[in-house]
Amino acid sequence: MSPYHVRNPFLARCTRNVSLCGPGSDKDTRHIEISLAGSGLTYEAGDALAVKPVNDPQLVELTLKTLGFSGDEIVKVKDAEKPVREALLRDFQIHFAEKKFLAKLAEKGVEKIAELLKPENAGALDEYTSAWNAARDCVDVLTEFPGVKFEPQEFTDTLRGLNIRLYSIASSLKAHPEQVDLTVAAVRWTAHGRARSGVCSTFLCERWQPGETAAVFGQVQKHFRMPESPDAPMIMVGPGTGVAPFRAFLEEREATGARGKNWLFFGERRSSSEFFYREQFEGWIKNGVLECLDLAWSRETDGRKEYVQHRMHAQGAQLWKWLCDGAYFYVCGDKERMAKDVHEELIAIVQTHGGKSPEEARAFVEETLMKTEKRYRRDVY
Ligand SMILES: Cc1cc2nc3c(=O)[nH]c(=O)nc-3n(C[C@H](O)[C@H](O)[C@H](O)COP(=O)(O)OP(=O)(O)OC[C@H]3O[C@@H](n4cnc5c(N)ncnc54)[C@H](O)[C@@H]3O)c2cc1C
Ligand SMILES: NC(=O)c1ccc[n+]([C@@H]2O[C@H](COP(=O)([O-])OP(=O)(O)OC[C@H]3O[C@@H](n4cnc5c(N)ncnc54)[C@H](OP(=O)(O)O)[C@@H]3O)[C@@H](O)[C@H]2O)c1
Repeated sequence: MSPYHVRNPFLARCTRNVSLCGPGSDKDTRHIEISLAGSGLTYEAGDALAVKPVNDPQLVELTLKTLGFSGDEIVKVKDAEKPVREALLRDFQIHFAEKKFLAKLAEKGVEKIAELLKPENAGALDEYTSAWNAARDCVDVLTEFPGVKFEPQEFTDTLRGLNIRLYSIASSLKAHPEQVDLTVAAVRWTAHGRARSGVCSTFLCERWQPGETAAVFGQVQKHFRMPESPDAPMIMVGPGTGVAPFRAFLEEREATGARGKNWLFFGERRSSSEFFYREQFEGWIKNGVLECLDLAWSRETDGRKEYVQHRMHAQGAQLWKWLCDGAYFYVCGDKERMAKDVHEELIAIVQTHGGKSPEEARAFVEETLMKTEKRYRRDVY
């Protein structure tokens, strides 16, 4: 793909960062364009981009203040020496209290933490550090035990490195030479009275403006490539940010003049405010790149939850016909709930419209489609 990797990333420039959400939306999902000019970095539709984030400067300042550091104290990070402020911005994860940090507090005599770290209290420890809407960062813990003091190096030695995050590439190089697009949802929540945020999604959505650079590299995703034949039909199920790779697939099919039929299932909260890439998708319906576009709005005013799998159910007979005609079935997006429900709906469709027993339908989806013919491809997170 390219010479770039985690230890040798490319410093890519953001060229565009715009909201995909309309007025009244309670989400913050963005379309981000990145220039690859001069890098030689290439990718295929279906690949992902790895991004090295920078922490929220406000959280860095709050952490320094809570620790009583000026920020200018020098710490060693691997082989380099730098001010602790810089290290907290770029090198370490600071938005969750990690076990090594807590172990240091226990060592310093904090009994409550020593108790939580006992193997038999693993559940309580998990609740203390990671509870939904109540997860704790170092600031929370240090505020709870204000007597505990750290030296700058001692503190950074307890922290985990700040890792890259992956994002599905939402563009085709054939449509946008030397460019990569992303579709990113900002992850935000409130805990203990303070606003919290996912590091990389909010770095990309809030803190990475056109003209600024960030460290990136490409991640080949062989398991999620388009069909080898340009004539093969594609069924794509991508609610939320899961739509990203399918924009890339469709751009690729349009740019290459591929003749295979394309069917997209997209879902979000409301058609009025979260119909991402609406103009482009409607344009593809008009020019025939998209044969079918099925939309599921989960929070429209009538109060009925409609999800992508409900649209699949309604279109079951047609979907089964496409599968019989050799269609590839793609799913991208939420792993915990959506992908599982879509999987079960696919099995139900094969059973109902393929005239199979429940066992035969499951075997057809999980063995034949997924493993033998590799026509069922997923990229879920
Ligand atoms: C192959 C692949 C492709 C992907 N493609 C995309 C994409 O196209 N677009 C996209 O937006 N994302 C995509 N992701 C997800 C992305 O990589 C990140 O995981 C996502 O942006 C969140 O990262 P973050 O750094 O913002 O959050 P982090 O800093 O990693 O924080 C997330 C953590 O916060 C926790 N958390 C979240 N809410 C709460 C809460 N209310 N209470 C307590 N804890 C909470 C979560 O459980 C999670 O552990 C993809 C992931 C993979 C693996
Ligand atoms: N860990 C979690 O609990 C959790 C929850 C949501 C998102 N996420 C993550 O947050 C990031 C951003 O998510 P996103 O913005 O792409 O959107 P998303 O939260 O995945 O939502 C997109 C659409 O999918 C709907 N949806 C919810 N449950 C579903 C199900 N079981 N089957 C089908 N559709 C379902 C949502 O409806 P409603 O929201 O109206 O139900 C919404 O309309 C992703 O990384 C995602 O994995 C994590």
